[in-house]
Amino acid sequence: METDHQRTSEEESLRQKEAVLHARELVSQLERDLGRQPTCCVTTFGCQMNARDSEKICGILRESGYQLIEEETADLVIYNTCTVRDNANQRVYGRLGTLLAMKKKNPAKKIALCGCMMQESAVIEKILKSYSQVDLIFGTHNIYKFAELLCLMLEEKRQIIDIWEETDQIVEDLPTHRKYPFKSGINIMFGCNNFCSYCIVPYVRGRERSRASSEIVDEIRALAADGVVEVMLLGQNVNSYGKGLSEDITFAKLLQQVEQIEGIRRIRFMTSHPKDLSDELIAVMRDSQKICRHLHLPLQSGSSRILEKMNRRYDREAYLALVKKLKAEIPDLSITTDIIVGFPGEVKEDVDDTIRMIEEVGFDNAFTFIYSKRTGTPAATMENAMSEKEISEQFDRVLKKVQETAKQQTLKHTGKTVEVLVEEVNEHDADMVTGRLSNNLLVHFPGGPELIGTFCTVKLVENKGFYFIGEQLPRKQ
Ligand code: SAH
Ligand code: SF4
Ligand code: F3S
Repeated sequence: METDHQRTSEEESLRQKEAVLHARELVSQLERDLGRQPTCCVTTFGCQMNARDSEKICGILRESGYQLIEEETADLVIYNTCTVRDNANQRVYGRLGTLLAMKKKNPAKKIALCGCMMQESAVIEKILKSYSQVDLIFGTHNIYKFAELLCLMLEEKRQIIDIWEETDQIVEDLPTHRKYPFKSGINIMFGCNNFCSYCIVPYVRGRERSRASSEIVDEIRALAADGVVEVMLLGQNVNSYGKGLSEDITFAKLLQQVEQIEGIRRIRFMTSHPKDLSDELIAVMRDSQKICRHLHLPLQSGSSRILEKMNRRYDREAYLALVKKLKAEIPDLSITTDIIVGFPGEVKEDVDDTIRMIEEVGFDNAFTFIYSKRTGTPAATMENAMSEKEISEQFDRVLKKVQETAKQQTLKHTGKTVEVLVEEVNEHDADMVTGRLSNNLLVHFPGGPELIGTFCTVKLVENKGFYFIGEQLPRKQ
C-alpha cells in the first residue's frame, strides 16, 4: 500500500490542493450552521521558522474559508508550539488551560496543537492524560498535510493525532498567508545536524534538508511580484545550506542568486553557525547592495571549555578571529548573538570569559538565556556546578554587560541619516511609525500608516537606549 512517505513532492502537493477544496466544502457547511463565517486564530510560540510554518497554516485556513482573527475566542484555535526551553512549554500549558475552559462553555470550539513540542512523546502523553479535549494534534514533519488533517478534524468527532518521527519530504507550492505584505521569511532548509549538546531542535525538527535553489528563487520572485521588498532566508544553520543537494551550490552562491531578483531590496538571513561561516560568504556580504548589515552569530559561551562541552565545534579564539575578519571586511556590520548561562559544569570563571568576550566583540545586542535541561539531549545527564541562585546571579551579570555594550554600540549611530523600511504604526503613539535600519535597529518617527512598507530617509535624532527617535527627511532620489 502507498504510504504518505512514498509519494513524490508533486503528488503530495496535488493531493493537498484537493484537500483544500474539500476543506472549503466542510467550512461552507459550518458557515451555514453558524449563520456566519467561521473564525480561526493561530498563535505562534518560538522562532522565525515556526512563524513561517504558521503562515503556511494560515494560508490553508484562509483558502478553506476561515476568517483569520487575532483573538482566541475564535471557532478554531491553533497553538504552534516551541520546546527549545522549558518556559516555552510552560507558557503553552498555561494558555491551553484557559482555552479548554472556553471550550467547556462552547463545545463546538475546536483546538489544535502543532509544532516542536508535539514531537516529544512525553508531551503527547501529558496532553492525552490531562488535556484530552484537544481536537487535533500534529507535528513538524507533516505540517504540509494540514489541509487533510483539517478535513478529518471537521468530519470526525474523535481526537485526531498524527505525528511522524522524521521525513525527507519537502512539499512545495502550498498556499501561505503572510503576516506582513512587504516582508517575508523563506525556508531555505529544514532541520539541523549539529547536535549542540543542550539543544532539542535536531530531535524535534529532524535531519538537515536543503530546498533546491530554483524553488527558493522562484518563491522569492513570486513574493517580489506580490509586493515583498525584504526577505529573510531561514534555516537553523544557513551556512551549511546546499549540503546533500545534487546541484553545485553554497549559501553564498544562493545569496548571489537572490541578489539578482528585481524588486527585492533587502536580504536578511537567520541563523549563522560560526563554525561554517565561509570567507566566500563574507566577500558576498561585503560586495552586496542588498544584504543587510546585520549578522546574528550565536556565541553561546565565551569559555572554550564550555564551548567544547556544548559541542559547538569552535573555541573563543576562533570566534574572535571570525569577528575580526568580519569587521575588517564589513566595517558597518552589526553583530548580535545568543548566550546561555548555567550550562552544566559552568562556573563563575567561565562566565567571566563570556563577559570578557562581550566586551571584546562589542555585540550590538544579545539574547541571554538561562540553560534549560531538555530531556533526551546529551547535556541532560550532565551535572550542574552552580546552584540556581548562583546561576541567576551570573545571568544578571551577563545581562548587565550585554545591555551596557548594546547601549554603547547603539549610541554610535546618533545623528546619522539612514534608510529605513517602515514596518508598522507605533504601538504607543498613533502619530508615529516604526522603521527598521539595515543593521536591524529600530527608529520611531512622526508619520502615518501610508508609509508602511515603504523606504524612508530618516535622521536618528535621539537615542533611547536600544532604539531611536528620528525625523523623516525628504526622499533621496
Ligand atoms: N540554530 C540556532 C539557534 C536555535 S535555538 C543556532 O544554532 O544558532 C535559539 C537559541 O536558543 C540558541 O542560540 C541558544 O542560545 C538557545 N537555546 C537552545 N537550547 C537551549 C537550552 N536548552 N537552554 C537554554 N537556551 C537554549
Ligand atoms: Fe540547536 Fe545547535 Fe542546531 Fe542551533 S545549531 S538548532 S543550537 S543544535
Ligand atoms: Fe522552538 Fe522549534 Fe524554533 S523548538 S526555537 S520553534 S525550531
